[in-house]
Amino acid sequence: MTASALQVVLARRPQGSPTPQDFTIRNVSLSAPAEGEVLVRNLWLSIDPYMRLFMGDQGGVHGSVPLGEPMPGGAVGEVIESRSAALPVGSHVVSMAHGWRDHYVAPAEQLQPVSASAGPLHRFLGLYGLTGVTAWGGIHGVLKPQPGETMFINGAAGAVGSVAVQLARRAGARVIACAGSDEKGAWLTGALGAESFINYRSEDVRARLAEHAPEGLDMMFDNVGGEQLEIAIDAMKPKGRIALCGAIALYDGDNYRAGPRNLFAIIEKHVSMTGFNAGFYFAEAPRIIAEFAVAEAAGGLIDEVTFVEGLNAMPDAFVAMLGGTSRGKVLVKL
Ligand SMILES: NC(=O)c1ccc[n+]([C@@H]2O[C@H](COP(=O)([O-])OP(=O)(O)OC[C@H]3O[C@@H](n4cnc5c(N)ncnc54)[C@H](OP(=O)(O)O)[C@@H]3O)[C@@H](O)[C@H]2O)c1
Repeated sequence: MTASALQVVLARRPQGSPTPQDFTIRNVSLSAPAEGEVLVRNLWLSIDPYMRLFMGDQGGVHGSVPLGEPMPGGAVGEVIESRSAALPVGSHVVSMAHGWRDHYVAPAEQLQPVSASAGPLHRFLGLYGLTGVTAWGGIHGVLKPQPGETMFINGAAGAVGSVAVQLARRAGARVIACAGSDEKGAWLTGALGAESFINYRSEDVRARLAEHAPEGLDMMFDNVGGEQLEIAIDAMKPKGRIALCGAIALYDGDNYRAGPRNLFAIIEKHVSMTGFNAGFYFAEAPRIIAEFAVAEAAGGLIDEVTFVEGLNAMPDAFVAMLGGTSRGKVLVKL
């Protein structure tokens, strides 16, 4: 079978915040699968902040996407042609590289088979995939909250943040959640159980943190970096713990690796600050997924997803996610 694919490609490097015009959509023909390869039709595409880093030319572990080339990303798809006994036609697979397109050909060994019997397939990009494993790694791998401890979580209404809030609550921690709208705040303190909320767009985060945690913070789960991280470092109790998950406030700048300016406070207060990468927790995914499934079935875990329809809508949805208009995980249905 000769197949073709629609791909979202990087048309130009954004100056500051990305716009939908930074992308174009092209149609390419795909070569037939060689021995050991499969042709996959994507069903679900993931939208994630780290993709912003591919768009720049600052290098780093994410590298840069060459102009005119398709954006990489996570996807769940169905094998529609196979030259691999390991992945017969009809198999469902996750790829972390072949998002932003509707079809692709790849070696079977690069793909992760998943079963629809474990839950809706889109979940392997969210709660049962990068999002959930990241939140679990930050909460249980790094911070290890104890009942009654106070945790500050920013980016709290997003994909990772909203799961992290719930895991921290389930461990008995008090959560001070921070996000960019009062509507998100009502959801965080209502359905998700955060004790208090700070709207970083309309409130003074330093002053509100001092109100909500007058004795200081035991922990921070940092999705944002930049000024919010500096404020939280100043607010940490002695021997506090910080899990560095992401630094979305810096991704549009010219140095997303910039550190906080008050590192010395970490020394003075014997604070531990640990960066972590979900990749280090994927080996534990079966156990994490089982734990999430039990929690969700018991009504103790909300899997919040914003669904978007069609490849053409992906650039707008990506820009909207970065701008904070969505809640939970953003997924594109093809
Ligand atoms: N370490 C890892 O392995 C790993 C894995 C996955 C993700 N991450 C990181 O985790 C963080 C969250 O990722 P996610 O997938 O869950 O994304 P997300 O939180 O669902 O989406 C991003 C959200 O961040 C908020 N935001 C955007 N710009 C901001 C700014 N300048 N200051 C404060 N908030 C801002 C927006 O919400 P509001 O402004 O409305 O609050 C936006 O909706 C990101 O930093 C990401 O890079 C790390």
